[in-house]
Amino acid sequence: AVCRAHSVGQVAMSVFVTRRIPAEGLRLLSQASGCRVQQWDSEEPVPRAELLSGVAGARGLLCLLSDRIDREVLDAAGPSLKVISTMSVGFDHLALDEIKKRGIRVGYTPDVLTDATAELSVALLLSTCRRLPEAAEQVKSGGWTTWKPLWMCGYGLSDSTVGIIGLGRIGQAVARRLKPFGVKKFLYTGSGPKPESAAEFGAEFVPLMRLAEESDFVVVTCALTPATQGMCNKDFFGRMKKTSVFVNTSRGDVVNQEDLYNALAQGQIAAAGLDVTTPEPLPTKHPLLSLKNCVILPHIGSATYATRSTMAVLAANNLLAGLRGEPMPHELKL
Ligand code: NDP
Ligand code: DGY
Repeated sequence: AVCRAHSVGQVAMSVFVTRRIPAEGLRLLSQASGCRVQQWDSEEPVPRAELLSGVAGARGLLCLLSDRIDREVLDAAGPSLKVISTMSVGFDHLALDEIKKRGIRVGYTPDVLTDATAELSVALLLSTCRRLPEAAEQVKSGGWTTWKPLWMCGYGLSDSTVGIIGLGRIGQAVARRLKPFGVKKFLYTGSGPKPESAAEFGAEFVPLMRLAEESDFVVVTCALTPATQGMCNKDFFGRMKKTSVFVNTSRGDVVNQEDLYNALAQGQIAAAGLDVTTPEPLPTKHPLLSLKNCVILPHIGSATYATRSTMAVLAANNLLAGLRGEPMPHELKL
């Protein structure tokens, strides 16, 4: 990988971009007057040492969710750093306390990826509860011998109860998509009831453990915070029904993976679909990958061409607005 530099006009603002991003986003930065762009121009993450040297003296940083922006990076950047723009809606990779202390502004990319991520969440839920990867594998391996009444049966959404952990932008978009499948009841949990958001689905606010006990499908769409870290653990899975399906498209750390493995292996729950894991990538020898009732995707929630392009443009516009001291299209209030 190479570190590329582009600059236009008299250079006043130097920015570091930690990865190759969709061209539309990079173009905005490269063509901005007075902007000098240094980029880790690779599909692969920037090595830590390159990040630390690349950010030194930069005024702006455009990063991804895989870059841990902590005190070490902020120290390496020095006092010149004024704006961080992450090409993600999640911001658990940013040391917000340190960032705030230094008066650095932060941009992120809410809304533009909500539809793509909700769509993927529904696709993962259906793939998991109707066992699509396992069934497709049977066709290839010769396991499909004839039509059998009880073969490859799973669980359907009709008349079901769906529990959503975190009825935010993505959680609501998931509920909106699931409702037409004939879901009977929506439950949700979060930091408090949100009657305006819940009204569209007639969703009931319940404590976490009641959601576990009553849901046929649990969908996790909350942010990763100290309160949600490890929230789906032994106690939680122990309360779920044996016939229920667990889906996580938020962050891997919301789940205690050892507890999830045990729940799946011991038949405490029926199946799990994960778009996010700890770590990412999940090692190919990880025990969860040995289970037939666990469907794991490589963090592709927002992965449509259009969405990723829009995210890159928004991240670039957030960065430029921040550098110019203007309101950002989407600024995280610290
Ligand atoms: P929002 O901020 O709109 O929603 C986050 C939700 O988390 C809020 O509804 C909040 O509920 C809830 N939450 C916070 N604390 C708790 C808690 N203790 N228990 C339960 N819920 C809680 O964000 P988005 O919907 O836009 O995104 C959500 C997350 O999805 C992102 O933070 C990111 O990690 C992940 N994501 C993953 C993607 C993927 O590719 N798989 C793509 C995009 C996002 P309340 O309002 O009650 O506090
Ligand atoms: C995010 O934006 O937080 C997702 O995880 C990737 O789009």
